[in-house]
Parts: sequence; C-alpha cells; structure tokens
Amino acid sequence: MSRQMSNGIPGPNSTEWGKRRDEAVPRAVFNTVPVFADGGEGAGFIDVDGNRFIDLAGGLGCLNVGRSNPRVLAAVKEQIENYLHECFHVAMYPEYVELAETLNRVTPGDHPKKTMLANSGAEAVENAVKISRYATGRDAVIGFTNGFSGRTLVGMTLTAKEMPYKHGFGPFAPEFYRAPFAYCYRCPLELQHSSCGLACVEHTADMIDSQIGSENVACMVVEPVQGEGGFVVAPDDYLPALKSVCEQRDILFIDDEVQTGMGRTGNLFAIEHYDVTPDIVTTAKSLGAGLPISGVTGTAEVMEAPHVGGLGGTYGGNPVSCAAALAVLGELTETDLLDRARAQGKIIRDRLDPLASELRIVGEVRGLGPMVGVELVTDKKTKEPAKRETAAVIKRCHENGVIILKAGTYDNVVRLLAPLVISNEDLHEGLDVLIEALRWADGGT
Ligand SMILES: Cc1ncc(COP(=O)(O)O)c(C=O)c1O
Repeated sequence: MSRQMSNGIPGPNSTEWGKRRDEAVPRAVFNTVPVFADGGEGAGFIDVDGNRFIDLAGGLGCLNVGRSNPRVLAAVKEQIENYLHECFHVAMYPEYVELAETLNRVTPGDHPKKTMLANSGAEAVENAVKISRYATGRDAVIGFTNGFSGRTLVGMTLTAKEMPYKHGFGPFAPEFYRAPFAYCYRCPLELQHSSCGLACVEHTADMIDSQIGSENVACMVVEPVQGEGGFVVAPDDYLPALKSVCEQRDILFIDDEVQTGMGRTGNLFAIEHYDVTPDIVTTAKSLGAGLPISGVTGTAEVMEAPHVGGLGGTYGGNPVSCAAALAVLGELTETDLLDRARAQGKIIRDRLDPLASELRIVGEVRGLGPMVGVELVTDKKTKEPAKRETAAVIKRCHENGVIILKAGTYDNVVRLLAPLVISNEDLHEGLDVLIEALRWADGGT
C-alpha cells in the first residue's frame, strides 16, 4: 500500500531547510526522516511542503496523549500567562508540589513517597543513581545488556550499545556492572524460558555476590520493557525474581519508566504488569507531552537521604512543564485513554502477529500493549539480524508517509510508539504501509 505524498519526501522546502541544517547543526545530532515539521495534531503532522504523515513514533515516545492535546494546551496557555519560570530553588510555586503529589499517588505502591523533578530521562536516571548511592552508602550500580539510559555520563555508562551511543565518548563512569537481561529470543545463556529456571537471574545474583560484593551495590536500573534495546519484554517471572535478588541484599530497584511509562504499555506504568513495587521510578518523555520534564519518585526514606542542596537544577520542574504534566496525568487517569491504549495494542498484534509465520524475515513480534516491536532476521534458524532490510523497511514507510523508528542492539527491530489517541483509521493505514514494506522486504531487497 502506498500513500500519496504529493510534494515529495523530502519536498523542495524540506530540502532547502536540510541544506541550512547541514551548515548549522553537527551531523552527530541525528535525524530519522528528511523532512521539517510545520504543525500537527493527534497522531499526525504536516511538513513544510504540505505532506501529512501518520505518526507511529510519537516524537520518540513523548506524545502518548497526542500532539496539541486540548487539555495540555489549555493548561500550558494558562501557565504561560501566569509565569514562565521562577526556579524552584529561588521561589517555590504550587505546580511543582502538585506534580510531586500526583506522581507520589499514581506510581506503584501505597507507601509514603517523595518526588524530585528534572528535565530529561537521562537526568532522571542520573539523579536516581545519585540518590541510591547516598541512601545506601554504596557505590556499585547494576545495568543490563541491551539497556539504554540516555546520553549523559551515567546514561552512557548504563547504556549497553556501543555504536552510536558510546563510541569515542569514554572513559565511562566507574563501578557500573552489566548483567544479562532476559532477552529470551536471543537468550545470552542459550537456554529456553521457562525450562531455564531463570538462569540469568541466578547469574546476576552470583555476579553481585562473587564479583562485586552485595554490600557494595547501591541499585539496579531496570527497564521493564527495554526500549532502545529492541522492545525486549521481560517474561512474567523475571522482574519479580530480580526484585527479590535486590530485597535479599538491600539493593534499591530503580524502575526506569522513561519510555514505558504514561500508558505506553496499556497500564500507567509497565511494572504494573509484573506485580513488582519498585523503590524508585523514573519518568520522562510522555510525562510532558513534548515539554521537557522528568521525575524521580521513590520511597520517602530513600528520597530524603541526600543533604539540602544536593539535588536539583535551574530548570528542573519548570512551571510550564509541570502544568503540562499535570494535564497529561489527568488525561491518563480520568479518561478512557488506557482502554484505548489496550485496544490499540490488540489491533497492532492482530495485524502483525500472523507475519511471524507468514514472512521469512520476521523473527519475532513482541510487545506489551501498544508498545510493539518486530524483530527482523535474514534466517529464522541462525537469527542473523536483518539490519539492511530493517533500514529499507523504515525508509519505505517514511516515503509512504508513515513515521516509524528502529530499535535494537543489532539495529533490526521496527518499533511502534504511536500516540495513544491515534484514530483506528490512521492506525490501520499506518499498519497497511508497514505490512506492505515488510512483505516487499521479504521478497528480497
Ligand atoms: C529507558 C530510557 N531511559 C532514559 C532515557 C533517556 O531519556 P532522555 O532522552 O530524555 O534523556 C531514554 C530515552 O530514550 C529511555 O528510553
């Protein structure tokens, strides 16, 4: 299926802007689609040449409540007319406290909690690690294979993938260790779930005890569904088992919900699918509906540990972003948006699951709710990653007006992060384009 993009991808105006971009902006600041946006709403945007795109990427997972969500826009407009910035460290303002109260209430667990606010996902993880170290008096941090935590020093250090995230940017922070995540399609221990008896968790526990020393480990940073790493969904028993490894050793369990949170998996937080109560939850991306904001929410005792002045930053919890985040949480908790997310997930799986047996190139379709990835391989037996084919599928989707992203340690996963407000019509049309591209790639590119 091909959508008519009347003005070319990129069209003349985007091409002109592209030249100026190349002159003014370094190449390392990567771009996915060679067009410039000129506006949009819901799950679509128009480029500067008048092409309308169906968005299955949500501005990298930030637009769960959609572009220009009326409730968010109204809250932001009201806040803008009031004041833009005070700095919470200079003069406090109610929006920061209201958002902290709301995150304390809606994050998993009924225990007393506290929240600090920052600007980005990487900053949230960075602060969660700082707080954990302070609260435990320990240094070591456990991350995972295929993990991603952003582009700051701690973020890069926790991130598993060398190219493009780490290459040339070392040395990285000390006292970070990497355990094998339960990527069952490519089991690092070459076992099968569930006959494996969760050998990867046993391996993690042994690594902590025999190589690091459990009394030296402050925290474990876990994505319930690994995002950049390839939409790797932890099996049901994996996260509870990791949590008990932490509990037995007084290690703090940091649940990184930067990509998986705010309804992305059909629940407000992905960890709710696993019946695990984390010690700390990090939030960002869709929390601000496009405005920069992130949160670190944890047990009151842990969050209270650092001394006065030890946490914060000039813009952390900016009032306009707080207003947007409060509106986002209102949309997610007071409307049927989570039901719509689950319905979206079902439509996607009904359409994509059959491809795993139909097409040679589809190794696995997996996901949680509407957070769905398709892993492409050149050979189902050897599972050789189909990197070139994945790039070709994504390019074809873009040329046909559907914005879609790749993911995966091996660059061979097509991932869906559509705004949860997408209409069924747009969703089906976007999936038609993706399925056509996959069939085309299966025919041999
Ligand atoms: C799980 C996870 N943590 C942290 C980050 C970093 O967030 P940011 O890009 O806002 O710094 C990301 C970004 O993709 C992420 O997916």
